[in-house]
Amino acid sequence: MGDSGMLEAIRWQLGPPASLKLLDQRLLPTQSVYIDIDGPRAAFTAIKDMAVRGAPAIAISAALGLAVELVNHGGGSQFSTAKEAQETIEANLDFLVTSRPTAVNLQIAATRLSAVARKEAGVEGGSGLSVAVAVISAADAMMKDDIAANKKMGRIGADGIMAELKARGSNSSKVRMLTHCNTGSLATAAYGTALGVVRSLHESGHLAHAYCTETRPYNQGSRLTAYELVHDGLPATLVVDSAAAALMAQGKVDAVVVGADRIAANGDTANKIGTYSLAVNAAQHGIPFYIAAPTTTVDPSLGDGSLIPIEERDPSEVTHQQGQQVAAPGIHVWNPAFDVTPSSLIQGIITEQGIVQHKGGGIDMKGFLQQQGL
Ligand code: MRU
Repeated sequence: MGDSGMLEAIRWQLGPPASLKLLDQRLLPTQSVYIDIDGPRAAFTAIKDMAVRGAPAIAISAALGLAVELVNHGGGSQFSTAKEAQETIEANLDFLVTSRPTAVNLQIAATRLSAVARKEAGVEGGSGLSVAVAVISAADAMMKDDIAANKKMGRIGADGIMAELKARGSNSSKVRMLTHCNTGSLATAAYGTALGVVRSLHESGHLAHAYCTETRPYNQGSRLTAYELVHDGLPATLVVDSAAAALMAQGKVDAVVVGADRIAANGDTANKIGTYSLAVNAAQHGIPFYIAAPTTTVDPSLGDGSLIPIEERDPSEVTHQQGQQVAAPGIHVWNPAFDVTPSSLIQGIITEQGIVQHKGGGIDMKGFLQQQGL
């Protein structure tokens, strides 16, 4: 737990010496163990093996995994030229982005750090030291910027959801929210995206109840979101994924808010497997369905969601739970980690820059980024 009382997936000190520790989320909720990360290789393994997960958290962990090595192996003095520093940094970033394919935040972070390295290496009189220092400070800023963006997104989302429900005729000052997977402090630098919206509703006295889904097969909902909700003392109930439609049919959900791993130019959104079913169910019951994600989750280069690469993970995540076999031995398994929800099912995309509402049959994320100068 950090000074603020918030759970910490990432513990980072710039130093020198720098220190990066990642909470091993595979062991939650029963054990709270931090893994020391000494460089890009350790960061790559922690991301690939899901010790750290969640789109913003993996991007920040990768950036800081590079920064920790740069600081502790000479702070830039290990490179004889600016070009050598730039090439080493870019090679490490190229390697880190291969750890998981779907969350675009990782690629965007790597592209930004590469651009910083390239720009600094092109400056007259630039040195290995100046390139490394610029990249370290850009990585350090990513951690701080994410917390600020999440708090802002939380407030924007809470206000937007209250306004939408009022416009739909609700007189209640409190809402019942359903969320999926884990999008909280454990998936970000702190506070969270979709769970940040739920936190913000609670802080402003507008949360009646939060429902979190179990999120099979990896149980990010029952292990991680439930842990955060209990930790913060929010009124909350855990449901298995297949109970969500029944919960909606009983009129117990006012709005759904989930996170995202990649949002295409037209608003189609890749998020944890099961998100699409929730959106279909929400539409069936006339419940507004929101995505909450930072603008670094938008990939304007992809026209629609069919172009988003979807990670398929090891069958053992489905056949086994905590090392115990729970499926018949020998059965074939399909284990996509994410699915794509078409923007036609999304009421709005909540970002730190505002909510992009579904209008005229679509959600123009590309236009929104352009308007924001991003
Ligand atoms: O496989 P995971 O646990 O990394 O998947 C996480 C999700 O799908 C989250 O909803 C998404 O990354 C947003 S986290 C703020």
